[in-house]
Amino acid sequence: MVAATVHTPTVRPFLKWAGGKGRLLEQYQPHFPAQIGTYFEPFIGGGAVFFALRHRCQSAVLADINPELVNVYHMVQTQVEPLIARLRQHRQRHDRDHYYTVRAQNDLQCPVERAARLLYLNKTCYNGLYRENSKGYFNVPMGRYKNPCICDPDLLRAASAALGRSRVHQAAFDQILQQSVCPQDFVYFDPPYHPISVTSSFTSYNRYGFTTQDQEQLQQVFIALAKRGVRVMLSNSDCPFIRELYEGFPMHTIYSARAINSKAKRRGRITELLITSY
Ligand SMILES: C[S@@+](CC[C@H](N)C(=O)[O-])C[C@H]1O[C@@H](n2cnc3c(N)ncnc32)[C@H](O)[C@@H]1O
Repeated sequence: MVAATVHTPTVRPFLKWAGGKGRLLEQYQPHFPAQIGTYFEPFIGGGAVFFALRHRCQSAVLADINPELVNVYHMVQTQVEPLIARLRQHRQRHDRDHYYTVRAQNDLQCPVERAARLLYLNKTCYNGLYRENSKGYFNVPMGRYKNPCICDPDLLRAASAALGRSRVHQAAFDQILQQSVCPQDFVYFDPPYHPISVTSSFTSYNRYGFTTQDQEQLQQVFIALAKRGVRVMLSNSDCPFIRELYEGFPMHTIYSARAINSKAKRRGRITELLITSY
């Protein structure tokens, strides 16, 4: 008798997300704590770090300010089969007309429909960007993919299992101070990066943007948690403003996976900062 092969797909992010950390994980590994009580990630985005650390944590509390993104996590977690079924329909109907029809559906009520819409747009839009206009409507044009992977059922089911009983909620990052976070826990902050130049200022994932004042407020939250003895880690761009803001905390140089433009490539690799409280 031939033993059945058990196919366990590796869990990785099911969304393309600007600032995704997938390609930096190897450099991050030496700085992650070996054991984690509850893992907190208040800027979850595509969740690359959560998926990499999930086996080390007893539980996880994930959050993001973007309600549509949070709804996708809830649906992957609790309604994965209806979500897959709806995505298959989008896959069958995918063309330019379908893309723009779905993009214009800003008032869907059903949470599964809304999640399938975001996933479909994410896989077919230009560069997997998530950008909204001032009314909060997704406004990224269609991308040029020959054969986009609109539905990967194995990955979605694996992500659903990995999310397990994690708590995912919509919140601004400072809400973390209202939660009981203790020294066994680990908090990872991955905010929109502070721009390193006027031309690289992609800080607006949503209608609210992320300002210099937000970076300063985040530093206060980082310090408040560190004072409680919590292990805190934060990613940001390598620039004088961020270096000054976190002066005194251990700072690790990370070699960025992205090259901003060909001039930057020629100048050498772009660095980022990984700042820890420990
Ligand atoms: C750099 S991305 C996170 C990337 C993620 N770590 C990954 O690997 O894909 C930043 C995230 O912060 C969220 N965000 C922006 N402003 C926020 C705020 N004030 N509070 C909480 N989340 C916010 C955005 O919606 C976005 O998903």
